Amino acid sequence: MHYCSLSISCATLSALFFSSSVSAFYLPGVAPTTYREHDTVQLNVNHLTPALSETDSQLRSVISYDYYHPAFHFCKPKDGPKDVSESLGSILFGDRILTSPFELKMMVNETCKALCEEKKLDKPSANFVKRRIEQNYNLNWLVDGLPAGQPYTDLSTNINFTLRGFPLGEVDKDKKAILNNHYDIVIEYHKAGADKYRVVGVLVIPTSRKDSKWLGEGKPGDCGDVKQPLILNEDGETSVTWTYGIFWVESKTAWATRWDSYLHVFDPRIHWFSLVNSAVIVVFLCGMVAAILTRALKKDIARYNRLDSFNLDDLSGTNGDAEDGIQEDSGWKLVHGDVFRAPRNPLLLSVLLGNGSQLFVMVGTTITFALLGFLSPSNRGSLGTVMILLYTIFGFIGGYVSARVYKSFGGEKWKQNIALTPIMIPGIVFATFFLLNLFLWAKASSGAVPFTTMLVILGIWFVISVPLSFAGSWAGFRHPPFQPPVRVNQIPRQIPPSTTYLRPVPSMLLVGILPFGAIFVELYFIMNNMWFGKVYYMFGFLFLCYGIMIITCAAVTILLVYFLLCSENYHWQWRAFCAAGASAGYVFANALLYWLSRLSFGSFTSVVLYVGYSLLISFLFFILTGTIGFFSSWAFVHRIYGSIKVD
Ligand SMILES: *[C@@H]1O[C@H](CO)[C@@H](O)[C@H](O)[C@H]1NC(C)=O
Ligand SMILES: *[C@@H]1O[C@H](CO)[C@@H](O)[C@H](O)[C@H]1NC(C)=O
Repeated sequence: MHYCSLSISCATLSALFFSSSVSAFYLPGVAPTTYREHDTVQLNVNHLTPALSETDSQLRSVISYDYYHPAFHFCKPKDGPKDVSESLGSILFGDRILTSPFELKMMVNETCKALCEEKKLDKPSANFVKRRIEQNYNLNWLVDGLPAGQPYTDLSTNINFTLRGFPLGEVDKDKKAILNNHYDIVIEYHKAGADKYRVVGVLVIPTSRKDSKWLGEGKPGDCGDVKQPLILNEDGETSVTWTYGIFWVESKTAWATRWDSYLHVFDPRIHWFSLVNSAVIVVFLCGMVAAILTRALKKDIARYNRLDSFNLDDLSGTNGDAEDGIQEDSGWKLVHGDVFRAPRNPLLLSVLLGNGSQLFVMVGTTITFALLGFLSPSNRGSLGTVMILLYTIFGFIGGYVSARVYKSFGGEKWKQNIALTPIMIPGIVFATFFLLNLFLWAKASSGAVPFTTMLVILGIWFVISVPLSFAGSWAGFRHPPFQPPVRVNQIPRQIPPSTTYLRPVPSMLLVGILPFGAIFVELYFIMNNMWFGKVYYMFGFLFLCYGIMIITCAAVTILLVYFLLCSENYHWQWRAFCAAGASAGYVFANALLYWLSRLSFGSFTSVVLYVGYSLLISFLFFILTGTIGFFSSWAFVHRIYGSIKVD
């Protein structure tokens, strides 16, 4: 069960880390709802999601199902379930919130109520539900915006907290599926004044009861006996009556801290220390790289400039020193006439760089927003919405960078550059996303993004992002290109064969591992959150890690470029991009390892989805880190060639 804790640890840790932002954590736009006695409290239902099995901590599926999927035979409200409005991000990340027939009246206890008349589960439905029980599916309800959960005690610290969701059923000793058809809903309320009550906690204790009965409209219902569980009949019909009880319990928890019990940390110190450790090691490493590089460069530059003055003496005929000639025959200065030669395929590189810059700024801004408390857990899907909006708006940056870089490369196909920048990468991402969705549609999973949402995304893309990108490109082409500090020679220089570790593949493997190392721990948390449908809160750490990753990426790529130039290889542009981007390969490999250790999928669809989404994320990560690597090397190259005298 500790996976949840990992996700949850974030909040407390970030609270520890940025204690000032704690009060801002519940901002904005979420005002408390105050109820009076007998007021109706809405209970909404969200999709069913797979959870980890308690026995072997494995996740068996990544597909979620709509609550009103016909096979479950849950009771519907009399006038049919209605959509509860959600944000775009919430829909994209899988939430499907609908109304329910549960009737909750503030402060009115009910021991037993039947939801609707008896339902008959036919054989295929029973088998479908049995599969879902075997895969540990959880029900996800929301009462007053708060997820319903189960009480849980952390045995190491004896702290009580709430685990989100509660099981659909369980598998008994004889491998028979027991369906939970009775729910004891315990709602904790806080008294905020005379006849003013607020919901501060929702616990559901599900049980299975064979003999429960519907006794007619307006009558309470018969909730049977807990000792007689309802076992799904795999060979015939199963009769199910859904029942529930409500208990209102007073709590001291204030409304402002009601999320705290969902954000529990298991052994926070361990995570904290491992993070600090990796951060310290990485920072130390980068410091060393920087120190070595500065010293070597200083020496190089001093030598080159000294040689220059010797050469001047040469010209005046005072001294013909052979030794200096030999010395000058090595090192990065030799390639000064080629180092600013445009790379092969400048169009593709500039498009990648434009999109990378857009991603870079988007990620940075999102994390900062989250850190400032604008993306509270009570605002469902706010993270996704903010990411999409920011990415759209930053289309301008993407266009600008792409155009300006392309112009500096001396590119001439400016129309293609303008068109490809907003279309190529988002197109690839959208197409992949669409394909993966087809699989979900085929499975009738609620995780499938509705077609209308797809259209909305396409609309946002074409109406806002593309024009902004065009505007950016226009601005980029209007500005002068970056002038190289030294002239480019007419004839390209021969490149001598390089040593093993400077060849493309070994260098990518070597360089890529460091940025990956910087985010490794954080990645583990994020993956836990992503695949277990939890919300991620640890933005303090994420912010730190993003910074460390940028520094590491820049430092190792600069080192590689320095060695490349020293070995007289001037094709540094693509090499810098790919070497830094190679950390995405590690991210993908890590996802596969994670699959082996934590997940065991029964269905092909789950595998396709998992691998598909991992590939998509790795691809975006490739562009992001590649861009960081490229621009740091670009700045480095301009800097060092700007500081030597070239005749
Ligand atoms: C946790 O809950 C149990 C009962 O479920 C109770 O006995 C115990 O005192 C609680 N612990 C704390 C720290 O509140
Ligand atoms: C409802 O039931 C709970 C648990 O049995 C009890 O503690 C509480 O006082 C009851 N509330 C009301 C309003 O009767």
